[in-house]
Amino acid sequence: MATRKIVQLEGNSSNRSKTVEDIVKLERKIFPKHESLARSFDEELIKKNSGLLYVEVDNGQLAGYVMYSWPSSLYASITKLAVKENYRRQGYGKELLEAAIQKCRTRNVQRISLHVDPLRTPAMNLYQKLGFKVDSLVKGYYSPDRDAYRMYLDFDTE
Ligand SMILES: CC(C)(COP(=O)(O)OP(=O)(O)OC[C@H]1O[C@@H](n2cnc3c(N)ncnc32)[C@H](O)[C@@H]1OP(=O)(O)O)[C@@H](O)C(=O)NCCC(=O)NCCS
Repeated sequence: MATRKIVQLEGNSSNRSKTVEDIVKLERKIFPKHESLARSFDEELIKKNSGLLYVEVDNGQLAGYVMYSWPSSLYASITKLAVKENYRRQGYGKELLEAAIQKCRTRNVQRISLHVDPLRTPAMNLYQKLGFKVDSLVKGYYSPDRDAYRMYLDFDTE
């Protein structure tokens, strides 16, 4: 089995620009224009209170990534999750999402929310598997004819 490593994208790492380039390429391939962050990736990355984790497999290939942010101390958001087609169904998506949830938890937020197109069955299944619940349907979220489910995961507060 391939070795895998989840890495946090850091501002000062030597391979940062190559990694961002790979992620932007993937983003363009996987997401339609209106759902893609490709054009604004650098802006997203320098936003305060946000992070990106990616998974690297043994040959140095980037297999997928997850972006998250914590706009306030009340909640965090998963802003993007994607796995390269040839690496899907090998547990990478789940590992990335679990790692992002852990990162958000260290911020002591009570809720993580996200938006997902209800037609994205693999993503819907994955989010539900990790405990996310559907909150509401947001009409025209991505484009006039593409809606989104808003989903959330709450943590117990003691
Ligand atoms: C969603 C996505 C990230 C899943 O990544 P992945 O690495 O293939 O997922 P995993 O192998 O970790 O699978 C975890 C769970 O997700 C669900 N799942 C993944 N692929 C699925 C598929 N093709 N059909 C149904 N359920 C699926 C299952 O519940 C699975 O658990 P199981 O293997 O025990 O059945 C990947 O399909 C993807 O990049 N899709 C395109 C982009 C996207 O839709 N992103 C989310 C919206 S922002």
